[in-house]
Order: sequence, then C-alpha cells, then structure tokens
Amino acid sequence: MKKLAVLTSGGDSPGMNAAIRAVVRKSIFEGYEVYGVYQGFQGLITDNIEKLELGDVGDIIQRGGTKLFSARCPEFIDAGVRKNAIENLSRRGIDSLVVIGGDGSYRGAERLDAEGIMTVGVPGTIDNDINGTDFTIGFDTALNTIVDAVDKIRDTATSHERTFIIEVMGRDAGDLALWAGVAGGAETILIPEDVSDVKAVAERIEAGMNRGKKHSIIIVAEGVMSAGECGRELRKYINVDTRESVLGHMQRGGKPTGSDRVLASRLGAFAVDLLKDGVSGCAVGIENNRLTETSFDEVFAEDHQIDRVLYKLSQELSI
Ligand code: F6P
Repeated sequence: MKKLAVLTSGGDSPGMNAAIRAVVRKSIFEGYEVYGVYQGFQGLITDNIEKLELGDVGDIIQRGGTKLFSARCPEFIDAGVRKNAIENLSRRGIDSLVVIGGDGSYRGAERLDAEGIMTVGVPGTIDNDINGTDFTIGFDTALNTIVDAVDKIRDTATSHERTFIIEVMGRDAGDLALWAGVAGGAETILIPEDVSDVKAVAERIEAGMNRGKKHSIIIVAEGVMSAGECGRELRKYINVDTRESVLGHMQRGGKPTGSDRVLASRLGAFAVDLLKDGVSGCAVGIENNRLTETSFDEVFAEDHQIDRVLYKLSQELSI
C-alpha cells in the first residue's frame, strides 16, 4: 500500500485544518495509508509521526490553527538533519509528503523532493505572497478579520475626529494591507513593495482636513514601519491627533471563511492527485479559478508581486 504523510509548517493560517482534512480524506479515498507529522519539519526530525484515520480529521474543517501544530525549523537547512528526517519516513515506507505552508516551508519541501521523498506544497499563509497561485489559504479569513477591525476603528475615529494608524501583518508582502485598505476604505495604504513617503501622506491628510475631512485611516504593513513609528513621523509634519492599533496575531486566528475552506479542500485534494500521478517537486495553486501546479524552481524564481492595478485603484479611490 502506498503511504503518504502531511505536515503544516511556518506561520499557521486559517484553513490549514481544512487542507489537512482534504489531504487525509482524499488519500484514504484513493487507497493510501496516511500519516500526520506533528510540529512541521521539527516533527520529521524528532519522529513525531502518527497514522491518521478518517475520524481523526472530523470536526476540524471549521477550526482555525492547525491540528498538526506548526513550527519554524531553521535547522532543516542542514543536510545531516534532513537525512534523519528522511530515515524516519523511509522506515515506515512513506515515500510521499504534502507540505502545507508558505515560502520558507517550500524550501524544505524542495530539498526533500530532491533527496527522494516525493513532495508537493500547498500554499498556507495569510500573506498571499506565493508565486503560482492567485490566493493562499488563510488570506481571505485574515483579510476579513482586518476589515472587521478597520470598520470598528473607523467608528471611533469618526466620533473623535482622529487619524488612526492600523498596523497589519506582512513583513515583505503588502497584499493584506492593500486588500484591507481597499475593502476598508482607508485613506492611505503603506506597503513594502513601494517607497513610503510619510511627508506626502501628511500633506494629503492636511489637504483633506482643509476640505473638512474629520478623520483618516492609514493602514501600514509591518514590513514598512511600525504604527508607532508612522505616527511619530506623521506628527513631524502636521499637528494631528493620532492613535495607533497593532492588530498582531489575531490576524492569524479565527475560523476560516467559506472561501478559505473550499480553497483548502480543493488544493489539499489536488496535491494528492498529483502525487498519485507521480508528479512532485511542485506547489499547487489556483489561477483564474483553475487548479495549477508550479515547480518549486518557478515559485522561487522571482519575488511575489502585488496587484499593481489594484494598488493604483486604491490611490484613485482614496483621494
Ligand atoms: O508569514 C505569516 C506571518 O504572519 C507574517 O505576516 C508575519 O510577519 C510573521 O508570520 C510573524 O511570525 P511569528 O508568528 O513567527 O512572529
């Protein structure tokens, strides 16, 4: 009987559980024996691996976080450490692996594939920053969490006629800030993919105030600067009453939206389809609503780009 394992790695994202469920159920449907690796690549090294049955993934599709736990595992870069991990899989006769995670997790996946374990990546990260897919699992949920927070903050911003600076996740990626800024009607969106000119932001806020605008929302991706820093910079140029909110890890939690659950189900099952057909060394994705696979090489070939058209639109609509 063919044996397959699944793990979640890196920052967790809402919908990872739905993806695990899809991998496990589809594997069993196809006649595979399926194993869960706990704590990501760390669990491969420490042999924290258990056989999963249909019932083990019951009642998780609606839950945030990951049943398999997650970890960042920098030591996986070491070939000696990976040898140990491969031995733990091989001893059980497991020759295929699904890695649910982000860009960093794909690096480990690529190495394992090159070293003989057939590996497919499933994009699970709130950042939406992976090439080869229009959307990553968890992005939609995190986006809605942020928009909900922005709506609430807007109420109090209006009441007190203040400028609010809301810091969202995204060290190198501006998708969350951009999409939440558009959906939340933010006056300013600061993303790592563009140069941030706080003086120009101050001038726009001042022009708005002169037109009678009473409040303003600035969304800043953490990779640009902190909300506190942004407030301090802003006050160098204008006399404005600011408040800062850092949304932090609440963005990574919560029950996944319907869209994320469906996306996770489709991508998880598709990863198993590929492995069954002997395809590996790639990541699955969704492009124009079609399931696609992209080799790890291609995924890593260039930096992920934000949607420039949407970015331009955000600027046109926030005048
Ligand atoms: O990659 C997902 C992410 O949430 C990023 O947006 C954020 O910069 C990072 O993880 C935070 O990581 P940690 O939870 O390890 O501090």
